[in-house]
Amino acid sequence: MPLTTLKDVLAAASQTRTAIPGFNIDNLEIPEAVMAAAERSKSPVILTIGQGAINAGQMLYLADVVRRLADQSSVPVVMHLDHGVSYEQVIQCLRAGFTSVMFDGSHLPFEENVKITREVAAAAHAVGVSVEAELGAIGGVEDNLIRDNRNLVDVREVERFISEVEVEALAVGIGNAHGIYKGLPQLDFDLLQRCQDLNPPPLVLHGGSGIPDDMIRRAIRIGIRKINVATELRNAFMHGLEEAVGKRDIYYMYRNAFDQAAALAEKKMRLFQCVDEPVHIA
Ligand code: 13P
Repeated sequence: MPLTTLKDVLAAASQTRTAIPGFNIDNLEIPEAVMAAAERSKSPVILTIGQGAINAGQMLYLADVVRRLADQSSVPVVMHLDHGVSYEQVIQCLRAGFTSVMFDGSHLPFEENVKITREVAAAAHAVGVSVEAELGAIGGVEDNLIRDNRNLVDVREVERFISEVEVEALAVGIGNAHGIYKGLPQLDFDLLQRCQDLNPPPLVLHGGSGIPDDMIRRAIRIGIRKINVATELRNAFMHGLEEAVGKRDIYYMYRNAFDQAAALAEKKMRLFQCVDEPVHIA
């Protein structure tokens, strides 16, 4: 089917009280593996192109791959920009056919974040594309960007932000971090609940790798509707390559990596409970 918007898949997730995975894709095989998992488990999916892939010059190539995979798929697929760094980058993505863009102004002064997100939203909405914003910068390492501030979002800022900017999804910092957690993640569920009580757009949890299953379920119960996973998916793929490298058979290596990435993606889809139900996109 043609690409779907983030707005439409998150509306369906809100109805079913589930979350949709946003998987970062770095090469040709990872999105193919994710799609194999999505077809097997009948899950909508968000294929996410992040700054690492963009800095490696892969944006247009991956956009073509995602469009082709979506055309062949029987489940809804969103093509999404992760942690967009500027208005100009968002415009490039709109031109490349993305159906969802994130502008991450969480590290900017609040007023500046509001201003640029508004401009991004005006441009994206003019061509029917959804927007994700962020408040409370997510810590950890994301595509080689290191941010190690503790990232508890200010609820008053959430309230002001959603009254001033129209977005289809909002990422909030509640103690989550990108990359591998040192020890058990300390997620502030009361803070998440206070954000949800404001009746915001669907909330997004970044740094989905390494969060224990019970915490993921609790976050979904409170109102998280999109969960980003990058590190665990990459690691599964790379583990598959490493395990098979001794065979000196390139097809076997990629097949092994593909299988392990697909298994990881399917496990997350089942955990996020967005499976086995045909999702009706209006
Ligand atoms: P992880 O690498 O921790 O899964 O985080 C992914 C993410 O949030 C991408 O925006």
